[in-house]
Amino acid sequence: MAAVELTSLRKSYGTTPVVKDLSLSIGSGEMVALLGPSGCGKTTTLRMIAGLEVPDAGKISIDGREVDAPGLHLPPEARRLGMVFQSYAVWPHRTVAENVEYPLRLKGLGRAEREAKVKQALGWVRLEALAGRRPDALSGGQLQRVALARALVGDPRVLLLDEPLSNLDVQLREELRAEIASLRSRLGTTMVYVTHDQAEALGLADRVAVMNKGVLEQVAAPQVLYGEPATAFVARFVGGANVLEGVSDGTSVRIGATVLTCEAPLTLPTGRGQLVVRPEDLSVTPGDGPLLTARLFLGGATEYHFNLGEHALKALAPASAELQMGSPARVTLRRARWFPL
Ligand SMILES: Nc1ncnc2c1ncn2[C@@H]1O[C@H](COP(=O)(O)OP(=O)(O)OP(=O)(O)O)[C@@H](O)[C@H]1O
Ligand SMILES: [Mg+2]
Repeated sequence: MAAVELTSLRKSYGTTPVVKDLSLSIGSGEMVALLGPSGCGKTTTLRMIAGLEVPDAGKISIDGREVDAPGLHLPPEARRLGMVFQSYAVWPHRTVAENVEYPLRLKGLGRAEREAKVKQALGWVRLEALAGRRPDALSGGQLQRVALARALVGDPRVLLLDEPLSNLDVQLREELRAEIASLRSRLGTTMVYVTHDQAEALGLADRVAVMNKGVLEQVAAPQVLYGEPATAFVARFVGGANVLEGVSDGTSVRIGATVLTCEAPLTLPTGRGQLVVRPEDLSVTPGDGPLLTARLFLGGATEYHFNLGEHALKALAPASAELQMGSPARVTLRRARWFPL
């Protein structure tokens, strides 16, 4: 039985459709990331699962029980979910322990049981030592751990997270990301994790659902998404691929005035289409092709930018002293995908 089942969900604000006929089945114990650009409908989808928004059409089931359907809408508190948002949403006048305890009070649990559960949840996020602190004496990472403990303390059926790390600096973000991964393997909680950060989605989730303009473009395991993007959008959004419209003769692609040649054994279908190629799948050597317009040393590799008429092309290759700004290069394709037009 699916932990969360979304069936043909729709939601509009005014006349603008924001979520369009979205269906997704999330298994028990599974972690699914909803990944997509700003405004694509991720938060709206999560808020519908939470019961904070009412779908215009479609159905939502949690653990096999319908919580939204035509004529049916269960309020958030009846869904037994945990939620963590980007803003920590921690009560400033309560201590860490009181914050975590609050959902248990709402449920009417007795004192001894509350204390035991709070202790356990603070242990999960390694905050036992700070139980008596006030939030204003905590770092962003600690605040978000309080929010996590509070979301987990009531033993939620599903934990919903909306960009939980995006208010943190890079180092804290990496730390807490590892913490969420470890929590998950210990607790086995089903999670829906909203993010626009591909590294977070690919690194944490069992499956990633890539969303674009209210529609799921592809739902797949991270390796599949990265290796076999179903659409040019997914390739661009997830792997940072170049997407270039051109004409292929099978072993080379003409893009405007520029020709990119395939390196054997790569061949492509012939005709007009979209060439999708990741920066790291291009080879760059001095030659008589496109002119180098930018060169960024990144440590392990150098990023080269070329201007192909109206398109920009980005390549990631070893540093070459011979390739200087404004000089012509030969750019070849080691691996690429082709979407016919
Ligand atoms: N209450 C609302 N009233 C009107 N429009 C809304 C409302 N909430 C969201 N929208 C619009 O719906 C669209 C989707 O919003 P949503 O918050 O779901 O996007 P998102 O994918 O979470 O984006 P982000 O990555 O920026 O958080 C946006 O265009 C947004 O402006
Ligand atoms: Mg959002």
